[in-house]
Formats: sequence, C-alpha cells, structure tokens
Amino acid sequence: MPIPNVRVFPDLAALTAAAKQFVLEQATGAIAQRGQFTVALAGGNTPKPLYESLVSAATPWSRWHIFWGDERYVPLEHPDSNAGMAFQAWLNHVPIPKSQIHPMLTEDADPQKAADRYEQTLRQHFGLGKGEFPSLDLILLGMGPDGHTASLFPHTAALTVGDRLITVGNKESHPRLTFTVPLINHARQILFLVTGANKQTALRHVFYGTGDPHLYPARLITGNALWFLDQAAAEGVLENA
Ligand code: 6PG
Repeated sequence: MPIPNVRVFPDLAALTAAAKQFVLEQATGAIAQRGQFTVALAGGNTPKPLYESLVSAATPWSRWHIFWGDERYVPLEHPDSNAGMAFQAWLNHVPIPKSQIHPMLTEDADPQKAADRYEQTLRQHFGLGKGEFPSLDLILLGMGPDGHTASLFPHTAALTVGDRLITVGNKESHPRLTFTVPLINHARQILFLVTGANKQTALRHVFYGTGDPHLYPARLITGNALWFLDQAAAEGVLENA
C-alpha cells in the first residue's frame, strides 16, 4: 500500500479543529455539486470532540444525511452505542431532519436481520440497482490498536464480505454491524482520525506492512483516504513525525 495521505497534529484539539474544517469543506462541496451531503460516522472516543465541535457549525443542516459506519449491538440508550454518543454530543443539538439521520437499529434478536435492514436503508436512499455500491461523500473512520476499523476486526469473516454493503462484525463474541470493505472503499472521501501512542504499531503495519492484511484490517481500506494523526500516534511511525 503506498504511503497514504497523512497529516500530523500536535494534539487531539488541533486534530479536531482540522477535522471540523475538513468535514465542513466536504459538506459544502457535496451540497454545491449534488444538493446533499452523505456522511457516515465513526464510533469510539476519538471523534466525540469533533461531533461536539460541529454543534456550532454554520452549514445547511437540512442537506445533511447521517449514517453510521458501524454499531455495537446494543440499544441506542446503552453507553456503548455509537449512535447514542453522536446524538448526545451533536445530533440532538442541530436541526438535521430526523428522517435524514439513520442509526443502525439493533432491536432484532438476529444481528443479520439488522444488517439486512440497514443494507435496505442504504439501497433505498441511494436508489441502488442489484450489485451496485454507493459512494458516500465522506466516511469517518477510527482505528483500534489491533488495526481494526469500523467493526472489521482481525481475522473475522466480515473482512471477506465483498457482495454486501453491510455485514455482521464480531469483536470477540460481541456482534457488531459494520460497513463492508468494498462499501468503505467506494466512498468519495475517507477520513481516518487516529490518536494515541497505542496505535503506533498498527499504523506501521498499515502504512508499511506487507504481510496478511487481515491481521491489520485498516490495510484493506485502499480507497481515497486521508489520515489525521496526533503526534502521539505518529511518533516513530513517520520519518519526520
Ligand atoms: C467502534 C469504532 C471503532 C473505533 C476504533 C478506535 O465502534 O468502536 O467504530 O472502529 O473507531 O476502535 O476507537 P478510539 O477512537 O476510541 O481509539
């Protein structure tokens, strides 16, 4: 994998400010060109300050369409819910029409049924024909210390799903819903937000590794990706970091 497009920031605050500007630029461009902005949110901790900072943004919220790149299989009210975090930090505080916010619903006893339901949500929104993949304007991603991204965990079946938009991921024995690798790679723009020294090893494997990409699944993301790292994550990974 060629060295991706990487920007390094001194700390989370600086990374968050740059990410806010980047997201709003992507929104402005998409709305100008296509009348809407389709963005998939990442979960975890890193993006929360970005979501909080977007509350004050001046942007045509009525043109935003929110999706999620993955979800833990818990109710919206559960503290682990990615959608719950984004609603509390941001979406409850801006006037995006509720019909344009699409959390991954996790009420089905069978996660596969929930995955199929979300697949239909995307197919309907983008008016997809059989076998077609949509190009979301922006997909936000994080990366775990093990190199997972979204809920694509090392050596799991989800990594090999190539004919679906949404599949069931697994973190140990915990089911998750996740965008598939091809869906992510079809995005117009991917933005990774990665912070913390505990990500250095995975970053080295993702940027320079030549072994089995299923060991560090973020290596499978070969689409149009930009990486925002803080100094702690970049230390010792990039020559001039
Ligand atoms: C999730 C996320 C996951 C996250 C990484 C990094 O549901 O947990 O989607 O892929 O982005 O685990 O998480 P941090 O940002 O908390 O390090």
